[in-house]
Amino acid sequence: MALSSKVRRIGVLTGGGDCPGLNAVIRGVTKPAQDYGMSVIGIQDGFEGLVEGRAKELTNEDVSGILARGGTILGSSNKGDPFHWPVQREGKTEIVDKSKAALRNYEAWNLDALIAIGGDGTMHICNKLTRMGMNIIGVPKTIDNDLDATDLTFGHDSAVFVVSEALDRLHTTASSHHRVIIIEVMGRYAGWIALNGGLAGGADIILIPEIPFSWKKIYDKILKRELMGKKFSLVCVAEGAKPKDGEMVIKGQDIKRYDPVQLGGIGEVVAKKIENNTGRETRVTVLGHLQRGGSPTPFDRILSTKFGYFAVELAAQGKFGRMVALKGSEIKNVKIEDAINKQKLVKPDTQALIAAKAIGISFGDE
Ligand code: F6P
Repeated sequence: MALSSKVRRIGVLTGGGDCPGLNAVIRGVTKPAQDYGMSVIGIQDGFEGLVEGRAKELTNEDVSGILARGGTILGSSNKGDPFHWPVQREGKTEIVDKSKAALRNYEAWNLDALIAIGGDGTMHICNKLTRMGMNIIGVPKTIDNDLDATDLTFGHDSAVFVVSEALDRLHTTASSHHRVIIIEVMGRYAGWIALNGGLAGGADIILIPEIPFSWKKIYDKILKRELMGKKFSLVCVAEGAKPKDGEMVIKGQDIKRYDPVQLGGIGEVVAKKIENNTGRETRVTVLGHLQRGGSPTPFDRILSTKFGYFAVELAAQGKFGRMVALKGSEIKNVKIEDAINKQKLVKPDTQALIAAKAIGISFGDE
């Protein structure tokens, strides 16, 4: 049955780093939009396409068969912030404001609403574009799960699945060779991937940014396990983890990005310290972008589809400046400006943390 809404044309874009489930959202937006008779304009490469005027109409045929496909059929970019746009002048990178070009294209395409799928960087941009008069609806994505306004972002479950599977594999080889294997995982300033992945994969030590660790506690845990007959250990370290007496390990800086800091390298640091101070042989696996690629888990496919559908419902009802959010088991919505106020971090009363400690996993703090 055809539904009705004043909204006739909606744009959709995927911003920031990709993650499993983006295509499932695009499909979840495009199919229900047709029931309202809306046209869906797929904007390419996130906000870059909005500024540069690159888009094409999406039909049911375009989104057929993409539910299980990783990445995004639209392309994405974490360097296309219209308010922080890099241009090359005389061999140097300068930052300029291109938000008016973004608004011009939004108007030229006759969009009544724009559905922007992204993480905190994308939602900050959405908030500013909303203030410029665009009708925006946000859909929260990130493997890091660090957006406070939603209980979960899609992509996180898929990343946790990869970490868990990797730990299962590392378990057997660590045990055979009596080694300490360190697995470095993503997550930026939040420890959700390390905590949930480490818990699912049976890590012995989990190091997260929210709990600066003591080196001695890590050595003690490894040696204590040996006394109990366990001659190997698995350490799951978040890229943003840091020792009590040190800083996060930074791999590089890129001023073109919303967050210029590129984390990475703590795994090697932890491995060297353990080897030098316990005499035990160590190896490091950096999971990197394996956590972002590939097919979404069933949980992420379902969450992404629900987010897509409810984003279209918000557009149809003219409820702009809002982001869909998971609260308990229900999809609700929150103001975009409220969604960007706070990062969601692991807290002392996080139940997964409490359970992990109760089963003897060390966080290097006690
Ligand atoms: O925010 C998602 C994320 O994968 C982080 O966990 C990681 O720090 C960052 O993006 C990596 O970004 P890039 O793909 O630009 O290297």
